[in-house]
Amino acid sequence: MYNECLCCAESIRKTTGDFKPEIAVVLGSGLGGFADSVDAEFSVKYADIPGFPTTTVAGHGGRFVFGYLAGKPIAVALGRVHCYEGYTAAQAVMPVRVLKLLGVKTVILTNAAGGINTDFKPGELMLITDHISLFCESPLIGENAEQFGERFPDMSEVYGGGLKDAALKAAEKLGINLHRGVYAQVKGPQYETPAEVRMLSRLGADAVGMSTAIEAIAARHAGMNVCGISLITNMAAGIKKEPLSHREVLESSAAGEKDFCALLSAIIEAV
Ligand code: HPA
Repeated sequence: MYNECLCCAESIRKTTGDFKPEIAVVLGSGLGGFADSVDAEFSVKYADIPGFPTTTVAGHGGRFVFGYLAGKPIAVALGRVHCYEGYTAAQAVMPVRVLKLLGVKTVILTNAAGGINTDFKPGELMLITDHISLFCESPLIGENAEQFGERFPDMSEVYGGGLKDAALKAAEKLGINLHRGVYAQVKGPQYETPAEVRMLSRLGADAVGMSTAIEAIAARHAGMNVCGISLITNMAAGIKKEPLSHREVLESSAAGEKDFCALLSAIIEAV
């Protein structure tokens, strides 16, 4: 997997030359608008990178944007791939590993998530303080890529490096109500049943989604600092009477996008 990621990084460098992003943002469903905040220098479509997994989901863009925000060199991954598209967990974390090879030290992982904690409302943001990934395949299964990190990496503080404080301070300054909570990753693509949501709640999850935790694992394995932000797009199944739809998820992403973009910019400024 290391060599595959290296080839992808080399292919990207044919476009970006010696541009070295320090911070990266991975944008989830319907959150691509943030890329407009970047003074873009280069754009590389996933489909133009040999060996790179391409997204198949509506609302996911499928390209990297490289440029500056608050004077800092950053990379934005517009769209990600998920295991439910048929990719292995190791393939799904390739974008994060390629970003590491391009020089990224801090990655901000974002997603659309279902709210389990009944204090949350659709359109609100949650800072991920920890995650539950046990329902998914580990991206580290297989021969260990020593070049990235050790066989048995510690996960006691995945979302650390002072980023949580930076995010909370930024939210306070902007007057944004930033919840804190545990994110549970499930396989999908079907949304959960009410019984599954009750189970996740009892296990300590505040929000549920189909990405991010495995990316955070790969990022920590490779020694990157990780920040995680969920946009609560809907209440998880069974919490309200209405059934869930991907359209609702995309519509609520649009509603919460202003706060989301302001918060991301402020975090990048503070890092
Ligand atoms: N469940 C799982 N993934 C999600 C949800 C949800 O309710 N909302 C957005 N992504």
